[in-house]
Amino acid sequence: MTDNPHVYPRRVDCAGVPIDLAMMRPQDDAKVVAFARELPEKDLLFMRRDIRQPKVVAAWTDLIAQGRLASLLARNGDDVVGCAALIVDPLSWSPHVGELRIVVSPKMRGVGLGRLLIEEAFIIALSRGLEKLVAQMTVDQQGAIAVFEQLGFRGEALMRDHVKGADGRKHDIVLLSHDVARVQSQMEAYGLADVF
Ligand SMILES: CC(C)(COP(=O)(O)OP(=O)(O)OC[C@H]1O[C@@H](n2cnc3c(N)ncnc32)[C@H](O)[C@@H]1OP(=O)(O)O)[C@@H](O)C(=O)NCCC(=O)NCCS
Repeated sequence: MTDNPHVYPRRVDCAGVPIDLAMMRPQDDAKVVAFARELPEKDLLFMRRDIRQPKVVAAWTDLIAQGRLASLLARNGDDVVGCAALIVDPLSWSPHVGELRIVVSPKMRGVGLGRLLIEEAFIIALSRGLEKLVAQMTVDQQGAIAVFEQLGFRGEALMRDHVKGADGRKHDIVLLSHDVARVQSQMEAYGLADVF
């Protein structure tokens, strides 16, 4: 999301709550860890690593510095209440694919923040020329699946018993994907490309 520096920081209104959107910086680490520690574990299982651990978040900001990860934070006052990450590996065989990870504080859910963060990450993915987006989540995250489907993502794969919580229970992961390039070319055909 460094591609759009003019867009951030920016204040938006989510059902009457002022939310400040800004790119994540290394000095935000402690606030991100505090945010993650308030989330139930089930809301974190879709991430590859446990972001409640400071060293995991430090590795995250290293990836930002390398340009492999763009991360946007949503704050209410001093507190982080939402986070979006777009991860790309330019050295892999999938440099055209971005992975989206979105999480919103339970106290801020249902007022449009999740949708806003996904849309912001989507615009950045387009500006980076990515052709496909994927998002993965545990199958019990019906709300998350509903939000992504509303934005045009579709189920592509199911990975059984793919993650294990601290209690030893395994959970299935669903992978949703969005063919950005196809949607964009359809929009261009209809003369709607400027929407982005
Ligand atoms: C997914 C998540 C980010 C959504 O955040 P949110 O701020 O509550 O979402 P929004 O308020 O923007 O809701 C977007 C839409 O989804 C719908 N939605 C939200 N929760 C829903 C639910 N449980 N069931 C059905 N629809 C739901 C809303 O009605 C809304 O639709 P509308 O705009 O037509 O009214 C949040 O639930 C979350 O952090 N989940 C845990 C982490 C996770 O699994 N992330 C996904 C992996 S990338």
